Amino acid sequence: MEALRITVAGKGGVGKTVISAVLARQLAQRGHRVLAVDCDDNPMLAISLGADLQAMAARPPIPTDFWTAVERLGEGRAAVLVEDAGVLLERHGIDAPDGVTLLGAPVIENDGCSSDARVRGMLGVLLGHGFDRVISDFEAGVDEPATSLGGLLNPADILLVVTTPSPVAMHTAAMIARIGREAGVGTVFGVANQVRSTADARTVAAGFAAVGIECIASIPADATIAAADTAGTSPLDGHPSSPALDALRGLAERLDNSMVAAAR
Ligand SMILES: Nc1ncnc2c1ncn2[C@@H]1O[C@H](COP(=O)(O)OP(=O)(O)OP(=O)(O)O)[C@@H](O)[C@H]1O
Ligand SMILES: [Mg+2]
Repeated sequence: MEALRITVAGKGGVGKTVISAVLARQLAQRGHRVLAVDCDDNPMLAISLGADLQAMAARPPIPTDFWTAVERLGEGRAAVLVEDAGVLLERHGIDAPDGVTLLGAPVIENDGCSSDARVRGMLGVLLGHGFDRVISDFEAGVDEPATSLGGLLNPADILLVVTTPSPVAMHTAAMIARIGREAGVGTVFGVANQVRSTADARTVAAGFAAVGIECIASIPADATIAAADTAGTSPLDGHPSSPALDALRGLAERLDNSMVAAAR
């Protein structure tokens, strides 16, 4: 069975990486085999996951010739791996806590046609077959959604658009949600982060509703998340429970339930 591909996007600094990392581990705690893919050129996902940064630094760079395009009858152009998925994972995957596998090492033999992070994102998609869930942490803003979603680079099943209550972040979120829908992503959900009041939560929910998107989680501003950021650790290590972590656990459960509902 193919993995369910969950992509996390939003304006810079809204919490995409923290949410991707915590969700990846919580979905793994729920029994899924999870591949977390850092699609950002400024790779922070490893830290929020609590992965071993030295192990990541020691990984060989990902070559760009791991795939080729084939024409499939009735399906059009498709990307396929030319190397064995198990060998690629062994070489480039990094073990993270709770059994999550991270794809986060740099790509350096890249001829300049697309960013290293995009190459890594594509490898993540192609390696997804051995997993139940692939979580891709996108780079900030609308550019990566506009160029990757729905195509060979990121055929997401679920797009999680993250925003804080700030009007600028909400404007970007609305644009990304529209891009996702136009790219043919089956399910687009909104997520409110760094929520400080019920008024904040209502503002974000109304902003998503205005573009026809359901806001499925409201994650409070939480000192545990900020403290982990300062310490350079995963918020889950040492603090299994806090308001934001509990809300994200609810989101993981909701994502699982929405898949069960979709499969009926
Ligand atoms: N719910 C929260 N409560 C408190 N702090 C938070 C919360 N979510 C995120 N943060 C903090 O906000 C900052 C940005 O978070 P994060 O790096 O996850 O955002 P991002 O969207 O991935 O940013 P970038 O666009 O740079 O990739 C970090 O310092 C993080 O600790
Ligand atoms: Mg980030």
